[in-house]
This record gives sequence, structure tokens and C-alpha cells, in this order.
Amino acid sequence: MFYGDELIERVREANDIVDVVGTYVKLTRRGSNYVGLCPFHNEKTGSFSVNKNMQIYKCFGCGKAGNVFTFLMEYDNLNFIEAVKELADRAGIALPEQEMTEEEKERRDMKERLFEVNKAAAGFYFRQLRSDAGRKAYEYLKGRALSDETMKKFGLGYAGHGSGRLYDYLKQQGFSDRVLHESGIFTFSERGVSDKFWDRVIFPYMDKNGKVIAFGGRLMVPSEKAPKYLNSPETGIFIKGRNLYGMHLARHSHEKYMLLCEGYMDTIALHQAGFDNAVGSMGTALTPQQAKLISAYVSEVVLTYDQDEAGRNAILRAIPILKDAGIVTKVVDMTPYKDPDEFIKNLGADEYRKRIEEAVTAFDFEAKSLRNKIDGADPAQKTKFDHELAKKLARIEDELERNNYIEAAARDYNIDINALRRQVNEYGRRLFNERVAEETQERAKEERRRMAGEKDSTVRSEQLLVSMLANNPDLYESVKNLITEEDFSDPLCNKLVSFIFASYANNGRPVHANIVCRFEEVKDQEEVAGILNSALYEDRIGEDEKKKAFADLVVRVLDDGLELRMQRALEADDARLYQELMNRKNDLEALRGRLCRQ
Ligand code: CTP
Ligand code: MN
Repeated sequence: MFYGDELIERVREANDIVDVVGTYVKLTRRGSNYVGLCPFHNEKTGSFSVNKNMQIYKCFGCGKAGNVFTFLMEYDNLNFIEAVKELADRAGIALPEQEMTEEEKERRDMKERLFEVNKAAAGFYFRQLRSDAGRKAYEYLKGRALSDETMKKFGLGYAGHGSGRLYDYLKQQGFSDRVLHESGIFTFSERGVSDKFWDRVIFPYMDKNGKVIAFGGRLMVPSEKAPKYLNSPETGIFIKGRNLYGMHLARHSHEKYMLLCEGYMDTIALHQAGFDNAVGSMGTALTPQQAKLISAYVSEVVLTYDQDEAGRNAILRAIPILKDAGIVTKVVDMTPYKDPDEFIKNLGADEYRKRIEEAVTAFDFEAKSLRNKIDGADPAQKTKFDHELAKKLARIEDELERNNYIEAAARDYNIDINALRRQVNEYGRRLFNERVAEETQERAKEERRRMAGEKDSTVRSEQLLVSMLANNPDLYESVKNLITEEDFSDPLCNKLVSFIFASYANNGRPVHANIVCRFEEVKDQEEVAGILNSALYEDRIGEDEKKKAFADLVVRVLDDGLELRMQRALEADDARLYQELMNRKNDLEALRGRLCRQ
């Protein structure tokens, strides 16, 4: 550990787990718990619970658990030290420099330097656009109906003619070749270094916190030789599939849905027209991480991808991904225009807003595109289509909703309603049977897990006892002279008990999230948080019952420990020790009685 316990504790206390997790997961309050959709596995019901008092989280679906550090380690794939740094940064707590290993310092420095390079480059491009050299680019953007205010809001810029200019500027600023190389915005070759972007309009790409992480550069005049857009490659700070263009603005919108479009210009045009909830997926297939990112803020998306074949296919691929993230999706029809930018330029924001209101459901969109692919006059193809439609309808869970869709589909696609209804029911039955089969398998698996768990009942008792000790100072008082860490055979419990007893002895109550920090491996942190969290159920039993459970656990753990030691005494031919242990074992029943009466 490179930081002192006190410092780590200060960082942890300065970062409320509900606030931190809340920036990634949409949480709803339920008592002292906050629940939401688990970011670590796909689910439709909220099994993910964050406890404000204990400052720990647990998913009752996939079992992931931990404190605020564990969360960042898991979510952003950081190690412990990086998580501490990130949260210290967030809370404005300065960390001493020397407490880093060289390697970590380098990795951390590289990321920080990459942010700095991007920021400096964005400034350079920004100024160029507003200089004489950038006149042409400025006129180009004006020609695309962008206001000065919009250009400023999105930090638009211009990369000038000639080569090596940004490079010279950044070298002057003191950036090393190594960092400039890693930034991906230069071409290093035998002939030297040159700027990647030149004579292009520059769109800085911001992460959700508004930091520049990449660039897109657009040609102003179409060319056979070069692509319309050139983009930064992925770097230490830019992973394409994890970000959405415009998210730093859209996440502050008050709208309860987000508009998802394809491009830089679309996103910008939408914002300029007053749709401050627009984000762009930048011409790549939407990823599950991007869907998760959206679902942290809203549960509805209105898709406004291009009207062409590629756009329609992208929509069909995006729909199930959004659905898996718990998002309800609708699709905008922008006929006769190609994309939101063109639509708004021609028909204006009010007309576009009407199109949003008229947006069709994901179901309708999918059905229509299926229908367009077939020749309706061919009975074989039409039959196949009807079946596909019935299968889709069968997946609608809500009965009233399903009936409405069946009626609409029968009408729109000219299918006999009774036949359609029967077929939907038939597919529904099959779906149901499949689910039952799945569930039975799941349950069998769970049963096997439970059996395996029972073999380890000693460990389970130890874990429960640890959690009760951690959560009940009075119970600790009653056994502090009777039980020691050596009575715990499980190494994790053993270590936990020594921390808990030490905290009681030093400064009163142990703090769960603090104890979790004492373990550096994510795996251990999770297990520890899971163990401490067993206490979540304690408040559901009465005081007497609790005492009895506690007495049972103490006796069971001591008994198991004594058994083991007696066995060893026998093996070592130590009759005296054996006798002594035996006596202690015989005293256990009396101890149980005392603990229950206390
Ligand atoms: N794109 C890209 N490289 C290309 C073409 C497109 O990276 N050669 C990405 C860009 O992020 C672009 C998005 O895909 O914004 C959508 O592409 P397209 O619809 O072709 O461009 P528009 O966004 O409509 O841009 P414009 O209106 O400036 O032509
Ligand atoms: Mn366009």
C-alpha cells in the first residue's frame, strides 16, 4: 500500500458512494438503500443495491460487491491506487507524489499528459479557425449554418495548411515526442514528424466530463484521395465504443430521453436547434457500453440515424442493444431528408420536434423493415413474414400492449386477426416453455452451488459471525475475551477479525468501507464486502433471535476450531492438551446459555 490508511480513509469519506455510483448508474432511493440496474451484468430488474449508511454496494443478481474504490476498479478497470487517485482528484484532495511506483507514475502521467496534449491541440486549432489562415474554414462552417456561439460551444477549430505546425507548437510547449506519438495526432516516419490533420475543419471529441480526448477532422472540399473524416485513433484516453459525442452536454439536459444520431454535424445541428439531449455515435455500431452510458441518465432513446440503407441497418442493430440496457427505443422518420442536420436546415426545429412526437416504436420499425424486404404478392414470402411478426408480437410481455400491437399489425399488414392471435399464442407458449426449461436449469445449477456451499459450512459460520461482530459492538464486548482470530480457520475471516478487533480496541466501531480497503485485490474486496453485507438481513430478526443466532455461531466456530486442534493434539500424542481442549469443548454449552441470557 502506497498511501497511509488515514489518507485512504479521508478520500473514501469525501466520496459518498451514492454520488459516485450515481454518475454511472441511475439509482432510485429505497429506504437507506439505493437501487438500480447492475452495471456489471445485463438485467432488466434492479438487483443492484447501494447502501448509504454502510457505504458499500452489492448486486443481488451477479454478486458483485464492494466499496467506492472497488466500484471504480471494476467499472473503469483501474487498480486500487488508480481508484484512490481518481477519487482524491474528484474530492480535491492532494496526494503526495512520491507514494507511487515508477510504473504507475508513468502510466498515470501518460494519461494526464495525453489530456494536456489534446487540450493544447484543441486550443491551437480553435485559435487557427479564428485567425486569417482559418478564414476559409470559418466560412465553410458558416455556410453549414453554424452560429459563432455553436462553434464556440463545441470548440470547433481548423488545422491549417502545410505540415508540422501543431507539432512545432506543442514541442515549444514542452511536450515530449513520446507523448506526442501516443496522442495519435501525428505521423512519425523516417522522413520526420507531421501533423495528422491539415486543411481540415476540426471537431474536438469530449468525454462525459468535457475533457478533449480525440479529434475528428473534416475536409471542406470532397476529395478522391482522402476520406471525408479523419479521426484520432484509440489511445490511452480514447476508447471509441465507450464514449458518445455531445454526452458532456446531453447528460445535463432535463429531457427524459436522449436523441441518438450518427455524426458530428448532426449532433451539433441538433444542439443548435435547441435539442440539448442529442448525442452522436460517430458512424460506428452502437456498443453495449454506450447503451449503458445512456442508461445512467435516461431510459428512453429516440434514434435519428441516417435515412439510408446503412442507417437503417445500424438502427436494427442498435435496437436490441438498447433493449438489453433497459432502454425503450423509438425511431424518427426524416423523409425526405437524409439526416437531422439536413432536415433541420430545410424544415426547421419545430417540424423536427413534430417528427420526434410521431416517432415509431422499435417494434413498428422492425416490422416495417421486415415487410420491405419481401414481395408481399408471393404467398410463401408473405407467410414467412407473418410468422416472423407473430414471433415478435409474442415477445411483448404486457397483455394489453400485446393485444394492441396484434390489432395494429393485423390491420397494417393485412393478416387475419384471429389467425394472427392464435399464432402469437402458439409462439408465446413455446417461449414460455423455453423459459421454464431455462429456469429449471438455473435452479438445478443453484441447487448444486448450494450443496457445494454446505460442505463449507464452517467457513459460512465464520463469515456470518464476522459480520455480526462487525455490526454489533455489544456482541463484540460479550465475546472479546473468549474468541480470537486464531479461532477462525478461513484466512480471509481470520484477517477480517483481526482488523475488526483492532478497530474496536483502537477507536471504537469498525467502518465497513474502511475494512474493505485493507484488502488490495478486487476479488478479496468483493468477498469482504459481501461478508460484511450479510448484516443487511440482521434488522429483519428480533433481538432475542439475534442473540440466539450469535450464540450458535460463536459455539459452532469455537467448536470447529477445538475439534481441529484436538485432532492435531491426538496426532502429536499430546494427551494433556487433548484433555484441556476437551474440557473447553464441554464448556461450550454453558457458554451458549450465558450468551443467550446476556
Ligand atoms: N465518419 C468517419 N469517417 C468517414 C465518414 C464518416 O469517421 N470517412 C463518421 C463521422 O463521425 C461522421 C459520421 O461518421 O460524423 C457520419 O458520417 P456521414 O453521415 O457520412 O457524415 P455527416 O455526419 O453527415 O457529416 P457531413 O454532414 O459533414 O457530411
Ligand atoms: Mn450530414
